[in-house]
Amino acid sequence: MSDGLHECKNAMLALEGSTVELPVWEGTEGERGIDITQLRGKTSHITLDSGFANTGSCVSKITFIDGEKGVLRYRGIPIEQLAEHSTFLETAWLLIYGELPMREQLKKFSKTVAETSLINESLHYHFEGFPRTAHPMPMISAMINAMGCYQPALYASEGADFDIAAARLIAKVSTISAFAHKKTVGEPFRYPHPGLDYASNLLHMMFSVPYRRYNAKPEVARALDRILILHADHEQNCSTSTVRMVGSSRANLYASVSAGVCALWGPLHGGANMAVIDMLEQIAGSGLTTRDFIDRVKDKSSHTRLMGFGHRVYKNFDPRAKILKEQCDAVLQALGANQRILEIAIELEEAALNDEYFIERNLYPNVDFYSGIILKAIGIPVNMFTVIFAIGRMPGWIAHWREMSHDAAARINRPRQIYAGSPLRDYTPLKMR
Ligand code: SDX
Repeated sequence: MSDGLHECKNAMLALEGSTVELPVWEGTEGERGIDITQLRGKTSHITLDSGFANTGSCVSKITFIDGEKGVLRYRGIPIEQLAEHSTFLETAWLLIYGELPMREQLKKFSKTVAETSLINESLHYHFEGFPRTAHPMPMISAMINAMGCYQPALYASEGADFDIAAARLIAKVSTISAFAHKKTVGEPFRYPHPGLDYASNLLHMMFSVPYRRYNAKPEVARALDRILILHADHEQNCSTSTVRMVGSSRANLYASVSAGVCALWGPLHGGANMAVIDMLEQIAGSGLTTRDFIDRVKDKSSHTRLMGFGHRVYKNFDPRAKILKEQCDAVLQALGANQRILEIAIELEEAALNDEYFIERNLYPNVDFYSGIILKAIGIPVNMFTVIFAIGRMPGWIAHWREMSHDAAARINRPRQIYAGSPLRDYTPLKMR
């Protein structure tokens, strides 16, 4: 098993009159896993775990989450410290390479990202094929794969070839995202400006027009950079697991990340930040009280979820939600933005956190509950919220693809199943049906 783990006392499985011993491994923070790699060979049984809530797919050194305590660390550093002191590009380096960059490394990495943010002019024509009404997320996924056609060393997971492919992916995902936005608003593309920091450059490409350059206020650029830091990784979430699943077939980095974008788009995952704003605006515009809405959520027949609440891992506050909630007030004040939807969000949170339905299900605000309020205050359109999430998550996807590619023991991911369909039967010719 991987380094960084140590072996504990074996688990004993009593099955059909015999006992099978299974190794148990413990990680850095005391998490324990029963190693079932020999289970089928020893017992002809497999395990079943719908949604993989109890199944570890890999050993990883990138991110640690303690869902019970609301802890999130990137390479051992608490998210609170990174959000306070780091930048998105510095955090990206930390996630991908495992250590905070030295001054020269960060300077070179930032320069590479700034200087490779242009996309090949022939890629622009792909945008012609998208309808103006298309959602930006499928455009991003398609364009990442298309960009891969221009990457000479797509399969490298180490050395200069990997370094440039990774930097280019981080650089260009921002550009294609801004271009996708321009496509949906019918405005001309605005090229990246290498003199701007990452967040300011994204905002410039989204909001500048030929007759007026958009200059992001420092507090706006800082708020966006912090949102990207908070979204940069989250261990084996659905989209990152997708990147690992696709990459396990030895698919290249761009193809694997392109699949991750599609998984993130789902409303139960990264698409929730759009659903939160829609929910808050529906409450604001309907005259519904937050109490009415909470009661509707609790009525299962309404099939209404409190979007931005609940999490597969966090059974306590999502630390990112706490940071974003603190940010909301500061950003809205700085921008003089409408506080109404923030007030509704805070009322909803307070109502839910004091309601048995949510308490007994350990439902707390997650990263998506407050992020949309800040994005909306910055002026990001709702259909770009999940795109911002994808830009933020890019370093995490790259880091996990690289870690998996370096794992000599990694195998193609191919889960088993239990068949519950028709028993053996013969073909019935059409004339007899
Ligand atoms: C992200 O995995 C990650 O790390 C993801 C993420 C990341 O950084 O990558 O953190 C980002 O995706 C955050 C989650 C964003 N999604 C939402 O906010 C959508 C609303 N939340 C959910 O639908 C739900 O909470 C999930 C999808 C997040 C978690 O789903 P689970 O773990 O499968 O939980 P479940 O659906 O089995 O719910 C358990 C119970 C059920 O009630 P009972 O059947 O026990 O009566 O809790 C209820 C659910 O109905 N429930 C909710 C609820 N979430 C769960 N009820 C009302 N509102 C909700 N939001």
